[in-house]
Amino acid sequence: MVPDKITFTDKIRKGGSVVVGVYADGSLSPNAAKIDKDLGGIISKSLKKPGFAVKTQFKTRSFVCPDDNRNHVIITGLGDRDKEYARFEAEKLGAAVWSGSAELDEEVIVAINEEDVRFSDGCVSAFMAFGALLKSWNFDKYKSEKDDKIKLRRPEMLSKNKTAAEKQFAELRNVAEGIFLTRLVVSEPANVIYPTSLAEVAKNELIPLGAEVEILKTAEMKKLGMNALLAVAQGSQNEPRLAILRWNGGSKSESSAPTIAFIGKGVTFDSGGISLKPGDGMHEMRCDMAGSGTVLGLVKAAALNKLPVNIVGLMAMVENMPSGSAQRPGDVVKSMSGQTIEVLNTDAEGRMVLADALWYAKEKFNPEIMVDFATLTGAIVVALGHEFAGLFSNCDVLAEQISKSGTATGEKLWRMPMSKHFDEGINSDIADMQNTGKPDVRGGSITAAQFLKRFVGDKKWAHIDIAGVETSASEDLFICQKGGATGFGVHLMYDFLRENYAK
Ligand code: BES
Ligand code: ZN
Ligand code: ZN
Repeated sequence: MVPDKITFTDKIRKGGSVVVGVYADGSLSPNAAKIDKDLGGIISKSLKKPGFAVKTQFKTRSFVCPDDNRNHVIITGLGDRDKEYARFEAEKLGAAVWSGSAELDEEVIVAINEEDVRFSDGCVSAFMAFGALLKSWNFDKYKSEKDDKIKLRRPEMLSKNKTAAEKQFAELRNVAEGIFLTRLVVSEPANVIYPTSLAEVAKNELIPLGAEVEILKTAEMKKLGMNALLAVAQGSQNEPRLAILRWNGGSKSESSAPTIAFIGKGVTFDSGGISLKPGDGMHEMRCDMAGSGTVLGLVKAAALNKLPVNIVGLMAMVENMPSGSAQRPGDVVKSMSGQTIEVLNTDAEGRMVLADALWYAKEKFNPEIMVDFATLTGAIVVALGHEFAGLFSNCDVLAEQISKSGTATGEKLWRMPMSKHFDEGINSDIADMQNTGKPDVRGGSITAAQFLKRFVGDKKWAHIDIAGVETSASEDLFICQKGGATGFGVHLMYDFLRENYAK
């Protein structure tokens, strides 16, 4: 449950519970030492008890405080004293503090600031608050009985510069709002989120913030010749939609503020189509619209913060179902670009949807760069597991910029290769290309990326395969609930825009 309010304070007031930090060598941090003194040394004494040391970074222990002015003391491992904290680690620390204190008390003072950890990216308390907020979000709307263990409603963060921390957190809180929207639509089942309903969510969320939302329906897409996207959609009772989101926060002049396009795979359910997926785990394919979810959350974050950039977000939304009207393996379709595709496997549908969306983005908006997000291949999970998303790009500078944001935000990327060999691996005997790689070529994520590359012309482009990271396989990897939607890509791309384009 998300806290009502996170505030910042420059004084450690009495009352409620308190979180303090301890280093890996067992010594108290400066603020912990001050509080320990006030409490007559009970923190240092408790740390000497057998089994109560908190030497591991991000581990927390708590005890009921005998002092009249405090309920609980929560001790958090800060790691090595001299360690410089990165932003992402400060967020992790905040998340750990949340997990260690949320069930204890309504009011908690988090007495860890720049005196306790080395941090050179502004206010560590703002990033800790952001981490706590991200950790607190959960998806329980379909549970009749809500989890009532969480009591923490008003964490107070100790900060050396309260005003600066408040300002920094105001921006991060809006990024969290974008992430929460992404998590919500990714978590919702496919009987709730399907192309038309997701398009409605986009309108309802973004128009009040001053963003523009236009929705293309089947007839308009037909007119545009988006036959690859429509071929995927044709097996479903649920009609496809293409949502065009625009946030024009930048200058009106094209040369000083270029358009950046984000394109998201929005397969609201991927049954595989006629090339039906096995039943085990098929339910997870309700998350196959996570790319579109990322684009939606990103535009929300940018609009909330009035980011001075011009962005267009495309949500390419279809449902991939088997039926009498579904496309068949062996069908050949002509994409909007004019290139023909032999459909060898109807489960390789994401690339067909993106083919038309990428081409449309390029033709219609002449963007400076294009970045697509897609839960595109199972093969990327084999290659990179759940820690890194796969990054493919035809531009080294762009790949470098995105990777840098990945390191800063903790949404990590691993650059994957592309080459002529893999490109040739998708040539078809009867059409311009086939939608799966040839069996002897392997590298399924790369052949998928090569396929997309054929639809971006000479645009600078990056493709981010998020199949392994859109939900969190483990508690340690992302700041969210275990097994829950991560919202991967929103913070990453927000940081990318802020660092490179928000002038
Ligand atoms: N949506 C899946 C990819 C996926 C797999 C996402 C696991 C999240 C977790 C995609 O549409 C798909 O089915 N890809 C096939 C491609 C193959 C048929 C060439 C795959 O990866 O097996
Ligand atoms: Zn598929
Ligand atoms: Zn899919």
